[in-house]
Amino acid sequence: MRASADPRHPGPSLPATYLRGRRTGWAAAPPEVQVFVQGQLGQDVLRCEDRVGGMSTGVAAVVHGSTRSLFVKAIAHDDNPVGHELYRREAAVAARLPALPHVPAFVAEADVPTRGGRWAVIVQEAVDGDPVRHPWSRADVVDVLDAWQGVAPVLHTTSWDVSAEVGAFLRGWRAVHDDPDDLWSELLRPWRTRLEEMDAHVDGSALHPPVLGHLDLRADNVLRDDRGGVWFLDWAHPGSTAPWTDPAVLLADVVASGGDRLDGGEVDVSGLWRTHPVAGGVDVELMRAVVVGLAAALHQRSRQPDLPGLPHRRSWTRAMAAGLRPFLLRHR
Ligand SMILES: Nc1ncnc2c1ncn2[C@@H]1O[C@H](COP(=O)(O)OP(=O)(O)O)[C@@H](O)[C@H]1O
Ligand SMILES: [Mg+2]
Repeated sequence: MRASADPRHPGPSLPATYLRGRRTGWAAAPPEVQVFVQGQLGQDVLRCEDRVGGMSTGVAAVVHGSTRSLFVKAIAHDDNPVGHELYRREAAVAARLPALPHVPAFVAEADVPTRGGRWAVIVQEAVDGDPVRHPWSRADVVDVLDAWQGVAPVLHTTSWDVSAEVGAFLRGWRAVHDDPDDLWSELLRPWRTRLEEMDAHVDGSALHPPVLGHLDLRADNVLRDDRGGVWFLDWAHPGSTAPWTDPAVLLADVVASGGDRLDGGEVDVSGLWRTHPVAGGVDVELMRAVVVGLAAALHQRSRQPDLPGLPHRRSWTRAMAAGLRPFLLRHR
């Protein structure tokens, strides 16, 4: 396990917008899970590193053998049925996804029976690198968008029959808009037309035909390796969506992190959208409406009680909504 001074174990120095919470350590995984992983590694586990980041509470660890390293996610059904269900879904999706550049190769998955109940386990090739930090730097955003340009052509030509239902998620903005007791209702009024326009296209439309998307591009789901390479992690929620949803969701994370130049950060978010090929020349207002829709939907969730399986969701959604709020005001 890494010490907290290690840069790959960033600990409490990260801002509240960076999604992470307490996770089960590799050492606490039952022997049956450890044996399964060791079998995939094909050699003894000599060392392990628990990783930081993500919504779920399960194990996220890199295990090292003498010549190979694997990344492991694992969660107990009895401790966290919601998380277990999500990992099983992610495992099923991993088997369907094509091999993608900038994505760690899938190795194995199983619902491992243990003495204390079933554990959902997912094993991938490990990436030797650090997650992107908050606030986003300009170099990280540009490199990550450039790398996405390498993923998108393969992803966008993969046929996929299930919608990511991003529109249904973002439609949380309507409830906030229509609630006179919510202070954000007033903030959303000038956005209504643009949000409705975004709503009409975000799941794909005749004008913006749907493609397969990742839908969860955030700093904690992106790693930089030691040679500066970019890796996209955590394909738990892919589905069909408009081709510009992924880069727009990523820029929402940049804004929430304080990375926008207009919040004192390094990134000209709107300028980057207008000039980077990843946006495909799509109107900047559609990107902005995704950012605002996400802000409102997260604000709405921050007012709901925590779900038992996702104990840090509420504090994270509150921090994200607060980080995105100035964007709503300055572009209204
Ligand atoms: N293939 C990998 N190699 C090395 N570290 C990884 C790998 N995949 C994920 N991680 C690290 O583990 C963390 C949690 O993994 P992730 O799949 O995003 O879990 P969650 O579903 O809980 O968000 C990531 O934020 C990252 O730091
Ligand atoms: Mg994650």
